[in-house]
Amino acid sequence: MTSRDLSHFDALLFGGDYNPDQWPEDVWQDDMRLMREAGVNCVSLGIFSWSKLEPQPGQYDFGWLDRVMDLLHANGIWADLATATASPPAWMAHRYPQSLPVTREGLRLSFGSRQQYSPHSQVYKDYAAQLVEQLAERYKAHPALAMWHINNEYACHIAECFSDAGAQAFRVWLEHKYGTLDALNQAWGTAFWSQRYSDWAEVTPPRSAPTFVNPTLQLDWKRFSSDAILDLMKREEAILRRITPNVPITTNFMGFFKPLDYWEWAKHEDVVSDDAYPDPSSPVEQIFNAMRFDLMRSLGGGRPWILMEQSASAVNWRERNSRKQPGQMRVNSLQALARGARGILFFQWRQSKAGAEKFHAAMVPHAGGDSRIFREVTALGAELKSLAAMRETKVQAEAAIVFDWHSWWALELDAHPSADVKLIPLLVHHYRALYHRNIALDFAHPSQDLSRYKLVVVPNLYLMSDDVAANLGRYVSAGGTLLVSPFSGIVNQNDHVYLGGYPGPLREMLGVRIEEFAPMQLNERSEVVTRDEESFACQTWADVLRLEGAQGLAMFTKGSLDGQAAVTRHRFGQGTAFYAGTVLDEAGMSWLMNTVISAAQLQPVLDTPPGIEAVRRDKWLFLINTTDAPASVAVPGRGAVTLKPFDGWVGEVTA
Ligand code: GLA
Repeated sequence: MTSRDLSHFDALLFGGDYNPDQWPEDVWQDDMRLMREAGVNCVSLGIFSWSKLEPQPGQYDFGWLDRVMDLLHANGIWADLATATASPPAWMAHRYPQSLPVTREGLRLSFGSRQQYSPHSQVYKDYAAQLVEQLAERYKAHPALAMWHINNEYACHIAECFSDAGAQAFRVWLEHKYGTLDALNQAWGTAFWSQRYSDWAEVTPPRSAPTFVNPTLQLDWKRFSSDAILDLMKREEAILRRITPNVPITTNFMGFFKPLDYWEWAKHEDVVSDDAYPDPSSPVEQIFNAMRFDLMRSLGGGRPWILMEQSASAVNWRERNSRKQPGQMRVNSLQALARGARGILFFQWRQSKAGAEKFHAAMVPHAGGDSRIFREVTALGAELKSLAAMRETKVQAEAAIVFDWHSWWALELDAHPSADVKLIPLLVHHYRALYHRNIALDFAHPSQDLSRYKLVVVPNLYLMSDDVAANLGRYVSAGGTLLVSPFSGIVNQNDHVYLGGYPGPLREMLGVRIEEFAPMQLNERSEVVTRDEESFACQTWADVLRLEGAQGLAMFTKGSLDGQAAVTRHRFGQGTAFYAGTVLDEAGMSWLMNTVISAAQLQPVLDTPPGIEAVRRDKWLFLINTTDAPASVAVPGRGAVTLKPFDGWVGEVTA
């Protein structure tokens, strides 16, 4: 192993979670035969094997894992070897009940499922560290070891723990952040409702309380919880870096997963990886799938990333679990590949015959190798082999959507003007308009340099520091095109409102001043009319907005806001800043995006019929039909490409 990226692996990675510890050893031979047949070259190994690796505290049994690692190597398969710390054995819960997590209501959870550890438990941390050390020492020179898979989906079930140990760790984190109680009292606005603290020991997590808990306390708790779980990962990372400095590290993300600030997390990974389970029956989730893949690429700064888990067909954890239609698993895989993936893996290799996930599809289903699912898996393996040349290539985007976890947390706290202003629906609403036009886009952190983008979209940034506002201002004044949507730039990092008219730090750039909000009731609709006399419905939100330099592009036409600006444009420096003070319907969003895209002079990858993605990765053009209807796309220099339902086409193009 010579480098910590994956550039020395000469293939697109293909495989899945491999849990041989659930099966007798004679099945392993069959696994190898079928893996070879399917073209599997990488497995995530032993993610839930802690109780088999350490059956008694401090007593390790690596014999079985040695045999699996040797088998994999003999069959030309790399191991993304798990540190196995995702689910501690029964002995830990039994001997150390304090290691179990505690809910907001004070309930200590029990053993019997998985992830039953408190992120603040020293016992968990110590045993996890010993296990990782043992694994790293034992396999550091094993030729099958390709990558470390730290833990698994951190926080997927337990994102916060309200134990006393958690409370103590929170205080330490707060002391580090604020230095003095005076500073904390100031930042949390504890003058309100008699919440002043006079001793650090008085500070508690946001446990169940009579009514709204102090919002800045809640926000800091979310920051602390993300940091505390990241600290678990960093502990494992430090051990692995010391013992195997050249082996790349990943931990699998879960897309737009609210509890963890993945911008911070990604800094500790050599390769970003993601687990994606779009509902096969939902067309909108096919778009969401594309959106999360754009996020994954962006988290790694554009580097190739890995789709670590997806399902070969149905999952088992929805109320009703639709199967993937023939072709649909391939289509979901192509969506990832088109957006820069360097490997396509599944949960899991062989479908379990016992346990909570026995009805979750796998690469080898209960029916065995003679099955539609395994044939599609095998065909995908062959296709990935033929596309290996794209493995280290990148995707170029000229548009970006700004996305920030801290603002997300703050936006969705309680006691706001409207509970309907939620981040993900707003993101999807904006993303979809760009997606349908085949505009390539990245996600961007609000404080990163934005100058390389022609268009930057802010679906919402309720919370925004002065520095972020300045960053957006710099971007526009240097010639950028910016679209900001409502309830942005309202509070600073402490969730304190910017005074003097909203959105405080953006007023000058947007050329507007908002005196009041007029949120709408759930089924209420309003209407706007554009300067070209087009009218659109709008919902959820309306700003009572005064133009201070901006030009009104669309005006409200109903009720008390009749005639007032709803959508505005303002020249600022060399660039243009658009503002939407309401949530337009889909047709309205389409009009707005057309306006913004033409101001930014952005070009689509290709014009395609609805439901067909055109994505460009280096010299490859992907056409992906995520729908169950056939389609035909005109490709310059190629003529018409026809696509069956749930079908994809990948070809090299020169232009
Ligand atoms: C997650 C986990 C896997 C499995 C799948 C099921 O992604 O990481 O262990 O439980 O969900 O969809």
